[in-house]
Amino acid sequence: MAQKDSLNCPFEHIKNPDLEIKKINEISQRTVSLLDNRYPVPDKILRGVHPKSHGCVSASFEINADIDQSLQVGLFKSPGKVFDASIRFSNASVRVEPDISDAGEHGSRGMAIKIYDVGGEVLIEDNGGRNQDFLMINQPVFAFANTDDYLILMRILDRNNDNSDSFFDPLKLQDPTLSEEDRQQILEYIKAENIDEQGIKRILDTLTIVKQIKSTSVANPLNIQYFSAAPFLFGSDRVMKFSVKPVYQVTPTVLPPDLAPDYLRRALKESVFQNERVEFDFMVQVRSDDGDKMGIENASSIWDEKQFPFIKIAKITIPTPQTEVDSDVNEARCEAMAFTPWHSLSEHQPIGSINRLRKDVYQTSAKHRKAEREVESELFLVRWFKSFLESL
Ligand code: HEM
Repeated sequence: MAQKDSLNCPFEHIKNPDLEIKKINEISQRTVSLLDNRYPVPDKILRGVHPKSHGCVSASFEINADIDQSLQVGLFKSPGKVFDASIRFSNASVRVEPDISDAGEHGSRGMAIKIYDVGGEVLIEDNGGRNQDFLMINQPVFAFANTDDYLILMRILDRNNDNSDSFFDPLKLQDPTLSEEDRQQILEYIKAENIDEQGIKRILDTLTIVKQIKSTSVANPLNIQYFSAAPFLFGSDRVMKFSVKPVYQVTPTVLPPDLAPDYLRRALKESVFQNERVEFDFMVQVRSDDGDKMGIENASSIWDEKQFPFIKIAKITIPTPQTEVDSDVNEARCEAMAFTPWHSLSEHQPIGSINRLRKDVYQTSAKHRKAEREVESELFLVRWFKSFLESL
């Protein structure tokens, strides 16, 4: 349980550990029931979030030779060291949908990096390996501040067939045209979910972030900046947020006129097929103040870049050309991979409410889709053996 690692961390403040565990368990259970509803037998179960992949590429992750000594911590302890890595680009939406909706709305984009064989003490092994995963989205903040809010979201998704609109209902109380019946219903719901004044403020923050996501147009997954949004340890006495920024813009750089449903996959494939330089700077904001001041328990809070500038400490290179991005073999490998922020060196332990929650939920989602894959392969073998016997 993530809390065991977190209770002694000076930067984290868990108000009610027992209640948090209960909420995390409920979210894990709902992750499974939502997946079962989304993918009825015989559909293949995909990831609980970010199910739509634009493709996986191989990459290298090189620690900058001139990294400042004060930043030579954990993964970054050896200047000039180069690691092998894989990267999966994705859409966050819980369902596989067109990259732009019919209403012209965009979505949250993800970049997940898996760095292989990092050595050292890891928090969770990755299929027996010691890997470091870095998961990011293309906004500097996560839309849901903490476990309380995420649980409310999950209950709403479960009730409303994956539609999250009613998460914002409490904000309708400001609407003078709201009927008395609707007002009463919303008040009852606020009471049932224990949403206080701070909770209402956070719903407003979520709405602002969601609007920002919907209006952010992305032409190519390789041309945008990604952020961890949530905080992580940087050794035992500091905290980091990380970000990845492209060094060059690669073609295509503009939205295609046809806005095909999978245009982001097409752009990624086209870019890595060419012999272009595809590089990103890996950067960190590092701080050491009091946890409350840094908003550790609120993943929707931002660290002002003017006050806490991002510092480049590593370089990610995607060698090109990679012509097999959407081959069957590569697709199967990409689907089988499981990323989690808890595949991590202990020096970079995920912290804060949202990150504690992620420990169980990612494992639950990955296990659920893996279990199904294993049943599928067994069925395949049984069928193959039967037809082999029949052919004799
Ligand atoms: C700062 C906040 C977060 C960021 C930056 C983030 C980012 C990502 C990314 C990039 C992926 C795709 C990984 C891949 O390519 O396989 C992912 C997957 C996933 N995320 Fe998050 N996420 C965040 C918070 C959450 C939260 C709060 C939950 C729910 C508790 C969640 C649940 C999941 C699940 C279930 C998967 C799929 C896991 C699997 O089946 O392998 N995420 N996330």
